[in-house]
Amino acid sequence: MKPLNLFEYETQAKKHLSQMAWDYYVSGAGDEITLRKNRTAFEDFQLRPRMLVDVSQRDLSTQILGKSQELPILIAPMAFQCLANPAGEIATAKAATEMGIIMVLSTMATKSIEEVAAVKQAGNQWFQLYVHRDRVATPSEYRGLTKSLVERAYHNGFQALCLTVDAPLIGRRERDARNQFVLPPGMGLANFATWNDLKITQKAGESGLFAYFAEQLDPGLTWADVEWLRSLSPLPLVIKGILRGDDALRAVEHGADGIIVSNHGGRQLDGAIATINALGEIVTAAGGQAEVLMDGGIRRGTDILKALALGAKAVLVGRPILWGLAVAGSQGVQHIIELLRDELDLAMALTGCTTLQDIHPSLIQS
Ligand code: FNR
Ligand code: LAC
Repeated sequence: MKPLNLFEYETQAKKHLSQMAWDYYVSGAGDEITLRKNRTAFEDFQLRPRMLVDVSQRDLSTQILGKSQELPILIAPMAFQCLANPAGEIATAKAATEMGIIMVLSTMATKSIEEVAAVKQAGNQWFQLYVHRDRVATPSEYRGLTKSLVERAYHNGFQALCLTVDAPLIGRRERDARNQFVLPPGMGLANFATWNDLKITQKAGESGLFAYFAEQLDPGLTWADVEWLRSLSPLPLVIKGILRGDDALRAVEHGADGIIVSNHGGRQLDGAIATINALGEIVTAAGGQAEVLMDGGIRRGTDILKALALGAKAVLVGRPILWGLAVAGSQGVQHIIELLRDELDLAMALTGCTTLQDIHPSLIQS
């Protein structure tokens, strides 16, 4: 039977994935405290619905970074989508285009910027950036690899850059260490096809991805680099992985257009605050000077309603997209978004909201 909700997709997806892929997708770091907390924290917020509002017409559309969007939902950047389906990020991009929502393509994608750009119609893709170490081999200019990624994203019509700041090293996911995580033969980092040394290789007793981050990514990145990044292209910059008000303020001071409240789906610092609990402080600190989005544990329309009531402009959805992809490719991803859309629509009707602007803080009690 077609799954009724995102949890049923997760159960089905497990049957379609290799043990290594399932473990990589589903894992959090360490004891997975933050992974669990991202979900359970939603339960602590209760809704205070308003009655006898005419809700016969409802509108779920919004503006994100000044562009009209069908829904307050984006597809979070996620690495290695070909592990779920041979069409990988291309299938995800097709579903995003079909649903009129933004997909964020990961630096660590298994389909390239160019392949994914070819799918889109108008303006529905952002590019997520991981900054590699300065490279001695070609290209020889300062951070030439990062520069070339930004230029490729810009020239291929991506609409924003999303700099992920919570991963100077990758979190330790013990299942990946146990499996000695590596990509299957024939699958690789599609954005680096011409850089022969940029490969994930098997490591004894360790995740190959963990080793790749330690060797290749730049743990020296600071706020000063944010300005440098902004100078590389005219694209708006969104900073992903903020969990404190003072960092949100720094992001604004360094010219960020958007902030994503995120703990990387519990995959980085275990014990980090659940994102729904961090959101309010960050919305206040940003003071309307940057759009605030959030991700982590969004599985129900009511989760989206709660995030919007606490001041998020939109939410990003992570793992459920991979579950949709594993079960039914592009159609599966589309169905995941449709389920969330329909659940949000129902939650709005039942709380007396006809537009996203009606989703007000007074709807929430914690
Ligand atoms: C991620 N995430 C992530 N984030 C990022 O900035 N770049 C990336 O390449 C990846 N890769 C990645 C792979 C997988 C398998 C997962 C599950 C997650 C984090 C992602 O963008 C997002 O923050 C979380 O997934 C959101 O939490 P939920 O919706 O999965 O609970
Ligand atoms: C992850 C990285 C690639 O979470 O962001 O696996």
